[in-house]
Amino acid sequence: MNTLLIRGRVLTFLAEPQGIDDAASYRYIEDGAVLVRDGKVVASGDYADLQTKAGADAETADHRPHLILPGFIDTHLHFPQTQAIASYGAQLLEWLNTYIFVEEQKFAHAAHAAAVAERFMDELISNGTTTAVAYCSVHPTSVDAYFAAAETRGMRMIGGKVMMDRNAPDALTDTPQQGYDETKRLIEKWHGRGRAHYAISPRFAITSTPEQMAMAQALVAEHPDCYVQTHLSENRDEIAFATSLYPEAKNYTDIYARYGLLNDRMLLGHCIHLSDREISVLAETGSVGVFCPTSNLFLGSGLFDRDRFDAAGARWSVATDVGAGTSFSMLETMDEAYKVLHLRGQKLTPFNSFYRMTLGNARALKLEDRIGSLHDGADADIVVLDSSGKSAMEYRMRTATTLAEELFILQTMGDDRCIAETYVAGKPMKTKAAKRQAAASRLLETV
Ligand code: GUN
Ligand code: ZN
Repeated sequence: MNTLLIRGRVLTFLAEPQGIDDAASYRYIEDGAVLVRDGKVVASGDYADLQTKAGADAETADHRPHLILPGFIDTHLHFPQTQAIASYGAQLLEWLNTYIFVEEQKFAHAAHAAAVAERFMDELISNGTTTAVAYCSVHPTSVDAYFAAAETRGMRMIGGKVMMDRNAPDALTDTPQQGYDETKRLIEKWHGRGRAHYAISPRFAITSTPEQMAMAQALVAEHPDCYVQTHLSENRDEIAFATSLYPEAKNYTDIYARYGLLNDRMLLGHCIHLSDREISVLAETGSVGVFCPTSNLFLGSGLFDRDRFDAAGARWSVATDVGAGTSFSMLETMDEAYKVLHLRGQKLTPFNSFYRMTLGNARALKLEDRIGSLHDGADADIVVLDSSGKSAMEYRMRTATTLAEELFILQTMGDDRCIAETYVAGKPMKTKAAKRQAAASRLLETV
């Protein structure tokens, strides 16, 4: 039995913070620790108490003065776009056609998919992200590569093959029947295997015919415990094109509603230009709108309106949306989220940012019993944050006096350099990933 005591300043959320002073929404322990055994949190609390509980043969990882939080959760990104981040100069539809639909064709090759999957998982870990929800390419082998790389690392990951049967190059399209059959086989192979969860993934209404949407509907009905993911209302030209393809639908949201795809496991990327009626449909069905701030700024898509979601009682989460998103870092993502909401006249408190990256996103995935907080029995997915990870941060931190200030500095200035360690199911993975990558580049140099 392996027992590990992870020591540092422990911060974990209990509820959504209702303001900057809402100390009841979180638990913060100055000399704290998390006791981990066999990949699970046994308990978190005062170091002194847990040291006694841990027993003499427990190993201690002393991370003082760093912060210890549950691992970050990213609720929307594209694994085949790892090498297409920072593709210049276009809005959504042109960007997809010019860059993304070219890049994703490379994933027909299993070796390429496997190599990118390795790098993708290490990039997440390097940024403190322990669970993510990703689109794979249309090729089933890309899903195998994705879940295999996650399984090697013991990560809880969600993903699925994109279903797309029109408005894309032939090399990237399936057919309604093929999309159904391949998805079905992948669900049987991966869903519930270890820590893997499947997401049925019709890319968006533009790239799926009504026949394919009907197939997605059948899959959702047959696999109610799978996630569903798609894109909604990201860009004005996209909305006009999608609604022209489904003239019978009342609006973009109604396209997905008509095919029975809206439920409390549905994650809808972007949701920027929705009417009040559409947001209430999301609220009624429990669907989640996914706020992707770096992507929305990068593609010039628009500003997510969080307050309208909250007012309607609609669920929302946050995500990087790599590769339209410009960073794997959830810290950088919350920095941009703060600025987007600022432009809308809305405030995002530092406590709310850290709630969103952890428990908030876990709740959006209905996984809060497993991840997103450091409660007894939770999966030991943990991030260790160094608030002085960059020299300018170290200098700024000298004048910080409160936890709220420190968290705000972390989200505003922080990136992967502030992730001192990432534990996946109780195992330290960041330093391991760095060593693996160094070894791989040494190997390349000798070839
Ligand atoms: N809509 C459909 N596909 C995509 C994608 O890959 N990225 C973004 N940002 N929006 C999309
Ligand atoms: Zn996306």
